[in-house]
Amino acid sequence: MADILVIGSLNMDMTLYVDRFPQIGETLPCTGMLTAPGGKGSNQALAASRLGGIVKMAGCVGCDAYGNELIDSLQANGVDTSLIKRMPDVSTGVAAITVSNGANMILVSAGANAAITPEYIDLLDDEIAVARAVVLQLEIPMPAVLQAARLARKHGCLVLLNPAPYQPMPEELLRLVDYLIPNETEAMAMLGVDQLDASNAEASLRAMQSFGVAHPMITMGDKGVAYLNGNAYHLDPCNKVQAVDPTAAGDTFIGGFISALLGGFSIGEAVAFAQKASAFCVAHKGAQTSIPTVAQLAQQQA
Ligand code: RIB
Repeated sequence: MADILVIGSLNMDMTLYVDRFPQIGETLPCTGMLTAPGGKGSNQALAASRLGGIVKMAGCVGCDAYGNELIDSLQANGVDTSLIKRMPDVSTGVAAITVSNGANMILVSAGANAAITPEYIDLLDDEIAVARAVVLQLEIPMPAVLQAARLARKHGCLVLLNPAPYQPMPEELLRLVDYLIPNETEAMAMLGVDQLDASNAEASLRAMQSFGVAHPMITMGDKGVAYLNGNAYHLDPCNKVQAVDPTAAGDTFIGGFISALLGGFSIGEAVAFAQKASAFCVAHKGAQTSIPTVAQLAQQQA
């Protein structure tokens, strides 16, 4: 039995580090390259486990070497991978990432992630029934995400949705979500606004609440994390770090937040813990290569 069931994507990330992003039609030399496990679902599962949670992951990979590597990475970090399906005749998901001056650009080829269906989710019903929280993102097909949220609600299990990459969501899905945690770009797309900062974060959260989301929260990078705790608005400042590679910073926040929350932390304490973990991630290269353990965070504070 797992406390946290992450249902989502697994990708092999190929990251190229450059001094500046290329122009259209331009070829540029790289300053470095990293091939390492990633994918929003897989990163969040690994982060939740490294940061103290008991975690199971459900998703799909191909019958290829990348699929093996992604499963090995999760297993080596204590995640139960017994629900991950191997798909014949389809490749494991791949992400092409470019990082320059602490910012990134990501292209994803969904591969096996696109094969997740509501019928596959129905097979997870018994697992959802015994989980305390189901963690979802939007890197697998929307009908599967919606079905997972429906089953979680049926079983009284907490639903955390990270709406990334952003796409319009059915109203029903928003009403099934307990914690909705977009970053500022995703929140702007969701609300149709062209800026998001301290001046309109509270109004944005209240707009999300009006869609039926119990606990909306927006991660705003160096502008901090905005959230509603009950009816009270909070904007907690971020931990300042030298940004090296932001890949998986949001995923680390999600994994850290849910682990801390289920571990008995208050919402404010869980946000603070997740922010520390996310800051560690931003200061290191790669996705799963940059997600800290509880011990690494404690060492950093000592
Ligand atoms: O959130 C970061 C992740 O987005 C990367 O690991 C990449 O695989 C894409 O899914």
